[in-house]
Amino acid sequence: MPRFDVLTLFDSYFEPLRTQGICRRAFDSGAMQLKTWNPRGYATDTHHTVDDRPYGGGPGMVMLAEPLEQTLAAAQAARREVGLAPAPVVLFTPTGAALTQQHVKQWAASAGAVLVCGRYEGVDQRFIDRNVSVEISLGDYVLSGGEIAAMVLLDAVARLLPGVLGCAESASQDSFSDGLLDCPHYTRPPEHAGMAVPEPLLSGDHARIARWRRDRMLALTQTRRPELIVILRQQGRLSKRDEDALSNLD
Ligand code: ADE
Repeated sequence: MPRFDVLTLFDSYFEPLRTQGICRRAFDSGAMQLKTWNPRGYATDTHHTVDDRPYGGGPGMVMLAEPLEQTLAAAQAARREVGLAPAPVVLFTPTGAALTQQHVKQWAASAGAVLVCGRYEGVDQRFIDRNVSVEISLGDYVLSGGEIAAMVLLDAVARLLPGVLGCAESASQDSFSDGLLDCPHYTRPPEHAGMAVPEPLLSGDHARIARWRRDRMLALTQTRRPELIVILRQQGRLSKRDEDALSNLD
Protein backbone atom coordinates (compact mmCIF):
# COMPACT_ATOMS: atom_id res chain seq x y z
CA MET A 1 0.00 0.00 0.00
CA PRO A 2 1.80 3.17 -1.14
CA ARG A 3 1.84 6.22 1.10
CA PHE A 4 2.55 9.61 -0.46
CA ASP A 5 3.64 12.59 1.61
CA VAL A 6 3.27 15.76 -0.44
CA LEU A 7 5.23 18.94 0.35
CA THR A 8 3.14 21.82 -0.98
CA LEU A 9 2.34 25.45 -0.27
CA PHE A 10 -1.18 24.77 -1.61
CA ASP A 11 -2.68 21.83 0.31
CA SER A 12 -6.17 22.63 -0.94
CA TYR A 13 -5.22 21.56 -4.48
CA PHE A 14 -5.40 17.99 -3.21
CA GLU A 15 -8.91 18.21 -1.74
CA PRO A 16 -10.68 17.14 -4.96
CA LEU A 17 -8.57 13.97 -5.02
CA ARG A 18 -9.61 13.13 -1.48
CA THR A 19 -13.30 13.71 -2.10
CA GLN A 20 -14.03 12.55 -5.65
CA GLY A 21 -13.77 9.68 -8.07
CA ILE A 22 -11.17 6.96 -8.34
CA CYS A 23 -8.62 8.62 -6.02
CA ARG A 24 -11.21 9.00 -3.29
CA ARG A 25 -11.96 5.30 -3.61
CA ALA A 26 -8.26 4.50 -3.27
CA PHE A 27 -7.94 6.63 -0.13
CA ASP A 28 -11.22 5.47 1.45
CA SER A 29 -10.37 1.80 0.97
CA GLY A 30 -6.88 2.29 2.37
CA ALA A 31 -5.28 1.18 -0.91
CA MET A 32 -3.29 4.43 -0.92
CA GLN A 33 -2.48 7.06 1.70
CA LEU A 34 -1.94 10.79 1.24
CA LYS A 35 -0.67 13.38 3.69
CA THR A 36 0.15 16.97 2.77
CA TRP A 37 2.81 19.05 4.50
CA ASN A 38 3.00 22.82 4.12
CA PRO A 39 6.55 24.27 4.30
CA ARG A 40 5.08 27.57 5.50
CA GLY A 41 4.45 25.89 8.85
CA TYR A 42 8.15 25.01 9.08
CA ALA A 43 9.52 28.49 8.29
CA THR A 44 11.05 29.91 11.47
CA ASP A 45 10.86 33.68 10.82
CA THR A 46 7.85 35.76 11.88
CA HIS A 47 6.61 36.13 8.30
CA HIS A 48 6.84 32.39 7.59
CA THR A 49 8.95 33.10 4.54
CA VAL A 50 9.25 30.21 2.09
CA ASP A 51 10.87 31.93 -0.90
CA ASP A 52 13.32 34.69 -1.84
CA ARG A 53 14.78 36.47 -4.87
CA PRO A 54 17.26 34.51 -6.99
CA TYR A 55 20.98 35.20 -6.58
CA GLY A 56 22.30 36.66 -9.82
CA GLY A 57 19.01 38.43 -10.48
CA GLY A 58 16.18 37.53 -12.80
CA PRO A 59 12.43 37.20 -12.50
CA GLY A 60 10.41 35.29 -9.92
CA MET A 61 11.17 33.75 -6.57
CA VAL A 62 13.06 30.64 -5.51
CA MET A 63 11.86 28.32 -2.73
CA LEU A 64 14.18 28.38 0.29
CA ALA A 65 16.08 25.19 1.11
CA GLU A 66 15.70 25.39 4.91
CA PRO A 67 11.87 25.29 5.31
CA LEU A 68 11.72 22.52 2.70
CA GLU A 69 14.34 20.49 4.59
CA GLN A 70 12.49 20.92 7.89
CA THR A 71 9.24 19.83 6.24
CA LEU A 72 10.89 16.85 4.62
CA ALA A 73 12.41 15.80 7.96
CA ALA A 74 8.95 15.95 9.58
CA ALA A 75 7.42 13.87 6.78
CA GLN A 76 10.15 11.23 6.94
CA ALA A 77 9.86 11.12 10.75
CA ALA A 78 6.12 10.52 10.47
CA ARG A 79 6.77 7.67 8.05
CA ARG A 80 9.37 6.20 10.40
CA GLU A 81 6.84 6.30 13.27
CA VAL A 82 4.55 3.96 11.36
CA GLY A 83 7.39 1.61 10.51
CA LEU A 84 8.18 2.83 7.00
CA ALA A 85 11.73 3.19 5.70
CA PRO A 86 12.79 6.67 4.49
CA ALA A 87 10.99 7.28 1.21
CA PRO A 88 12.54 8.38 -2.07
CA VAL A 89 12.05 12.10 -2.65
CA VAL A 90 10.48 13.12 -5.95
CA LEU A 91 10.62 16.67 -7.29
CA PHE A 92 8.21 17.78 -10.02
CA THR A 93 9.99 20.04 -12.47
CA PRO A 94 10.03 20.57 -16.24
CA THR A 95 13.73 19.61 -16.17
CA GLY A 96 12.92 16.07 -14.93
CA ALA A 97 12.54 12.82 -16.85
CA ALA A 98 9.16 12.36 -18.55
CA LEU A 99 6.60 10.41 -16.51
CA THR A 100 5.60 7.13 -18.17
CA GLN A 101 3.16 4.33 -17.38
CA GLN A 102 6.19 2.15 -16.55
CA HIS A 103 7.15 4.57 -13.76
CA VAL A 104 3.55 4.74 -12.60
CA LYS A 105 3.48 0.93 -12.28
CA GLN A 106 6.67 1.03 -10.22
CA TRP A 107 5.23 3.65 -7.85
CA ALA A 108 2.01 1.63 -7.52
CA ALA A 109 4.06 -1.40 -6.42
CA SER A 110 6.20 0.64 -3.99
CA ALA A 111 5.81 1.91 -0.42
CA GLY A 112 5.30 5.40 -1.90
CA ALA A 113 7.36 8.56 -1.86
CA VAL A 114 7.69 12.11 -0.66
CA LEU A 115 6.49 14.36 -3.49
CA VAL A 116 7.91 17.87 -3.54
CA CYS A 117 5.85 20.44 -5.43
CA GLY A 118 8.09 23.25 -6.63
CA ARG A 119 6.56 26.70 -7.07
CA TYR A 120 7.61 30.01 -8.53
CA GLU A 121 10.83 29.95 -10.55
CA GLY A 122 12.16 26.87 -8.80
CA VAL A 123 13.70 25.36 -5.72
CA ASP A 124 17.14 26.18 -4.26
CA GLN A 125 19.48 23.70 -5.97
CA ARG A 126 21.10 22.79 -2.64
CA PHE A 127 17.83 21.26 -1.43
CA ILE A 128 17.66 19.25 -4.64
CA ASP A 129 21.30 18.11 -4.44
CA ARG A 130 20.98 17.02 -0.82
CA ASN A 131 17.57 15.37 -0.88
CA VAL A 132 15.94 14.64 -4.21
CA SER A 133 16.34 11.18 -5.73
CA VAL A 134 14.02 11.49 -8.76
CA GLU A 135 13.02 14.51 -10.87
CA ILE A 136 9.84 14.03 -12.88
CA SER A 137 8.32 16.14 -15.66
CA LEU A 138 4.85 15.80 -17.11
CA GLY A 139 6.01 17.04 -20.48
CA ASP A 140 7.67 19.83 -22.40
CA TYR A 141 5.62 22.71 -21.07
CA VAL A 142 5.73 24.78 -17.91
CA LEU A 143 3.11 24.57 -15.17
CA SER A 144 2.86 27.18 -12.44
CA GLY A 145 3.93 24.57 -9.91
CA GLY A 146 4.32 20.87 -9.20
CA GLU A 147 0.91 20.37 -7.57
CA ILE A 148 -0.95 19.41 -10.72
CA ALA A 149 1.93 17.12 -11.71
CA ALA A 150 1.78 15.42 -8.29
CA MET A 151 -1.98 14.99 -8.70
CA VAL A 152 -1.42 13.38 -12.09
CA LEU A 153 0.98 10.87 -10.54
CA LEU A 154 -1.41 10.13 -7.66
CA ASP A 155 -4.35 9.61 -10.03
CA ALA A 156 -2.38 7.35 -12.35
CA VAL A 157 -1.12 5.26 -9.39
CA ALA A 158 -4.54 5.05 -7.67
CA ARG A 159 -6.23 3.37 -10.62
CA LEU A 160 -3.61 0.59 -10.68
CA LEU A 161 -4.06 -0.40 -7.04
CA PRO A 162 -5.95 -3.60 -6.23
CA GLY A 163 -9.71 -3.14 -5.78
CA VAL A 164 -9.78 0.50 -6.92
CA LEU A 165 -11.12 0.12 -10.47
CA GLY A 166 -14.48 -1.56 -10.93
CA CYS A 167 -13.17 -4.08 -13.43
CA ALA A 168 -9.86 -5.75 -12.63
CA GLU A 169 -9.04 -5.96 -16.31
CA SER A 170 -9.54 -2.31 -17.21
CA ALA A 171 -6.12 -1.12 -16.06
CA SER A 172 -4.32 -3.96 -17.81
CA GLN A 173 -6.04 -3.01 -21.08
CA ASP A 174 -5.18 0.70 -20.99
CA SER A 175 -3.02 2.55 -23.43
CA PHE A 176 0.68 1.89 -22.68
CA SER A 177 -0.03 -1.05 -20.36
CA ASP A 178 1.51 -3.33 -22.97
CA GLY A 179 3.44 -0.60 -24.77
CA LEU A 180 0.74 0.23 -27.36
CA LEU A 181 -1.91 2.95 -27.60
CA ASP A 182 -5.41 1.74 -26.77
CA CYS A 183 -7.91 0.82 -29.51
CA PRO A 184 -11.13 2.81 -30.18
CA HIS A 185 -14.19 1.96 -28.03
CA TYR A 186 -17.90 1.93 -28.95
CA THR A 187 -21.15 1.52 -27.05
CA ARG A 188 -24.85 1.53 -27.96
CA PRO A 189 -26.54 2.30 -30.27
CA PRO A 190 -25.08 0.22 -33.11
CA GLU A 191 -25.54 3.18 -35.45
CA HIS A 192 -25.04 6.85 -34.54
CA ALA A 193 -25.38 9.73 -37.04
CA GLY A 194 -25.09 7.24 -39.88
CA MET A 195 -21.91 5.72 -38.47
CA ALA A 196 -21.92 2.00 -37.66
CA VAL A 197 -19.99 0.20 -34.94
CA PRO A 198 -17.19 -1.85 -36.59
CA GLU A 199 -18.68 -5.21 -37.47
CA PRO A 200 -16.18 -7.48 -35.62
CA LEU A 201 -17.22 -5.91 -32.29
CA LEU A 202 -20.80 -7.06 -32.87
CA SER A 203 -19.84 -10.57 -33.97
CA GLY A 204 -19.74 -12.19 -30.52
CA ASP A 205 -16.60 -14.02 -31.70
CA HIS A 206 -14.11 -13.30 -28.89
CA ALA A 207 -11.00 -14.33 -30.81
CA ARG A 208 -12.03 -12.14 -33.74
CA ILE A 209 -12.77 -9.20 -31.43
CA ALA A 210 -9.36 -9.61 -29.77
CA ARG A 211 -7.66 -9.68 -33.20
CA TRP A 212 -9.55 -6.58 -34.35
CA ARG A 213 -8.57 -4.71 -31.18
CA ARG A 214 -4.92 -5.71 -31.41
CA ASP A 215 -4.82 -4.61 -35.06
CA ARG A 216 -6.39 -1.22 -34.21
CA MET A 217 -3.85 -0.75 -31.39
CA LEU A 218 -0.97 -1.56 -33.72
CA ALA A 219 -2.33 0.71 -36.47
CA LEU A 220 -2.95 3.66 -34.15
CA THR A 221 0.45 3.31 -32.51
CA GLN A 222 2.21 3.03 -35.87
CA THR A 223 0.50 6.20 -37.09
CA ARG A 224 0.71 8.38 -34.01
CA ARG A 225 3.67 7.07 -32.01
CA PRO A 226 5.90 5.02 -34.37
CA GLU A 227 8.76 5.24 -31.86
CA LEU A 228 6.77 3.00 -29.51
CA ILE A 229 6.62 0.30 -32.21
CA VAL A 230 10.40 0.54 -32.61
CA ILE A 231 10.85 0.03 -28.84
CA LEU A 232 8.50 -3.00 -28.76
CA ARG A 233 10.34 -4.52 -31.73
CA GLN A 234 13.70 -4.02 -30.01
CA GLN A 235 12.31 -5.68 -26.89
CA GLY A 236 11.03 -8.64 -28.92
CA ARG A 237 7.46 -7.95 -27.82
CA LEU A 238 5.83 -8.08 -31.26
CA SER A 239 4.61 -11.47 -32.50
CA LYS A 240 4.83 -12.70 -36.08
CA ARG A 241 1.12 -11.93 -36.37
CA ASP A 242 1.71 -8.37 -35.09
CA GLU A 243 4.42 -7.88 -37.72
CA ASP A 244 2.09 -9.20 -40.44
CA ALA A 245 -0.64 -6.78 -39.28
CA LEU A 246 1.86 -3.89 -39.35
CA SER A 247 3.12 -4.72 -42.83
CA ASN A 248 -0.48 -4.87 -44.09
CA LEU A 249 -0.85 -1.24 -43.03
CA ASP A 250 1.76 0.06 -45.46
N1 ADE B 1 6.40 22.06 -12.73
C1 ADE B 1 6.36 23.02 -13.66
N2 ADE B 1 6.27 22.51 -14.90
C2 ADE B 1 6.24 21.15 -14.74
C3 ADE B 1 6.18 20.05 -15.64
N3 ADE B 1 6.10 20.21 -16.95
N4 ADE B 1 6.18 18.82 -15.12
C4 ADE B 1 6.28 18.63 -13.80
N5 ADE B 1 6.35 19.61 -12.89
C5 ADE B 1 6.34 20.88 -13.36
